[in-house]
Amino acid sequence: MNFNGKVVVVTGAASGIGRAAALTFADLGADVVVLDVDAKGKEVVGDIQKKGGTAIFSRTDISRNGAVRQAVDKINQQLGGVDVLINNAATVREGNVLDVTVDEWNQVLNINLTGAYLCSKYCVPYMESRGGGAIVNVASVQGLATEQDNAAYSASKGGLIALTKSMALDLAPQNIKVNCVCPGAIETEKVKQALSESSEPNIVRQEWSDLHALRRMGTPQEVANVIVFLASGLSSFMTGTPVLVDGGMLASFGTAGKPV
Ligand SMILES: NC(=O)c1ccc[n+]([C@@H]2O[C@H](COP(=O)([O-])OP(=O)(O)OC[C@H]3O[C@@H](n4cnc5c(N)ncnc54)[C@H](O)[C@@H]3O)[C@@H](O)[C@H]2O)c1
Repeated sequence: MNFNGKVVVVTGAASGIGRAAALTFADLGADVVVLDVDAKGKEVVGDIQKKGGTAIFSRTDISRNGAVRQAVDKINQQLGGVDVLINNAATVREGNVLDVTVDEWNQVLNINLTGAYLCSKYCVPYMESRGGGAIVNVASVQGLATEQDNAAYSASKGGLIALTKSMALDLAPQNIKVNCVCPGAIETEKVKQALSESSEPNIVRQEWSDLHALRRMGTPQEVANVIVFLASGLSSFMTGTPVLVDGGMLASFGTAGKPV
């Protein structure tokens, strides 16, 4: 599998799963756009360039319509088109519908769902002009099953799974396949940091690990591998599909496989 000559845009690529995906696409020959609000995205570009790859940083807030339109037009000018879009950037605000403020609700939905819509809206015409492409949305197990106090995030991820199916139907005639991944708990640097700041890091880590049949959290690379597969020709008969990358979390009744 290689992405030689392909332009791959990864949103939220300054850290975590997006960073792992950007590095993997670059290793496979893609010209990569690291798109993020965080200037740390420049470091990811530096890491790719050190290994001889091609990457540019686009500092863009995906929730802002005009900013996304301008960013995608500039990417086209700099790299000559777009072939693959990974809608990965997201944010979380905990709380139920009573606790979450209207501003917090709008922020989560604007980034996690509207952001994916905007990036797709402006990238798709460039994919069409190159004869097709692929979009991979990064949703979550939280879009399929959820927990207390996560109303906005789970609504955004459920919406993203539905948007994946809708876009898959609409874009199939243009030879653009649209799929999504639904990760379980993934041990990113931010998750490691949150664990280390909890009062009982080892106990909390074990509890999170035990939510999965495999009794561990996933790594950013394990999600990136599936994203890359869904963006590649190896998944040519897949579209409109949510793919669980959850270590067996949703295979159980909610007991992580323990008998009830
Ligand atoms: N880590 C997990 O356990 C987990 C589990 C399930 C799903 N996910 C999903 O995976 C994806 C990546 O998560 P992660 O854990 O790597 O997160 P992360 O916080 O490490 O990375 C998210 C990136 O998105 C960027 N971002 C946030 N708002 C943005 C905006 N408005 N415009 C542009 N960039 C913006 C951030 O700057 C950050 O670099 C997200 O969609 C998340 O919901 C993560």
